[in-house]
Amino acid sequence: MISYTIINKINIVFYNDKIVEHFIQLSESDKRMRFGMPIKNEAIISYVKNGTASPSSYWVIAEWLDPFNVFEKKVVGVGHLYFDKENNSEIGLSISDGFKRRGIGSNIMSFSIILSNLFLSSKISGLTLRSNKQMISLAKKMNFDFEGGGTSEIEAVKRFDYNPLTAFNIFLNIKHSDY
Ligand SMILES: CC(C)(COP(=O)(O)OP(=O)(O)OC[C@H]1O[C@@H](n2cnc3c(N)ncnc32)[C@H](O)[C@@H]1OP(=O)(O)O)[C@@H](O)C(=O)NCCC(=O)NCCS
Repeated sequence: MISYTIINKINIVFYNDKIVEHFIQLSESDKRMRFGMPIKNEAIISYVKNGTASPSSYWVIAEWLDPFNVFEKKVVGVGHLYFDKENNSEIGLSISDGFKRRGIGSNIMSFSIILSNLFLSSKISGLTLRSNKQMISLAKKMNFDFEGGGTSEIEAVKRFDYNPLTAFNIFLNIKHSDY
């Protein structure tokens, strides 16, 4: 069973180490896709520490509850949502091997879009490597547009006017995934 939690700088204390663990167990290629370059464990630890200390950062995490060990909840998906001074949000996400292609990435994106919408952002965006077919396909599926970027990266963007019904409609589309 998968559960989703939205984390801010108050409840992050319970999740800091679990988020670091999730990033460290990613394959080298997924780390490169997620961070845009190869990254060492020390850099991951410092990225999470800075992100969790920032009042502008939110994390959407997916946890798997092992039915044979109900005391064990494992973080299998992490979205990091950063709000800038203009209140635009930027998202980065990763799903653990063994849990991909089950809608978890889409659900994390949906929760992030809802949060951005409720916080009156005018856009949510994510930089992704042009070679990242999975992420580009996910962004297309979620009706993002593609803009700018550089030779190796492209920016996926979704703009919105504030409308509480938009958030509600996206919420209705979040799929339940059972394991
Ligand atoms: C990209 C990523 C987040 C997708 O997560 P996910 O949970 O597998 O995605 P979902 O199951 O919600 O898939 C949604 C859609 O994405 C696309 N997609 C996902 N994986 C894909 C793959 N391997 N090949 C092609 N399309 C893929 C499909 O359109 C899919 O819809 P479908 O299953 O109905 O065909 C995941 O592959 C990942 O963590 N990659 C490594 C880190 C990364 O690249 N992060 C993005 C940059 S910040």
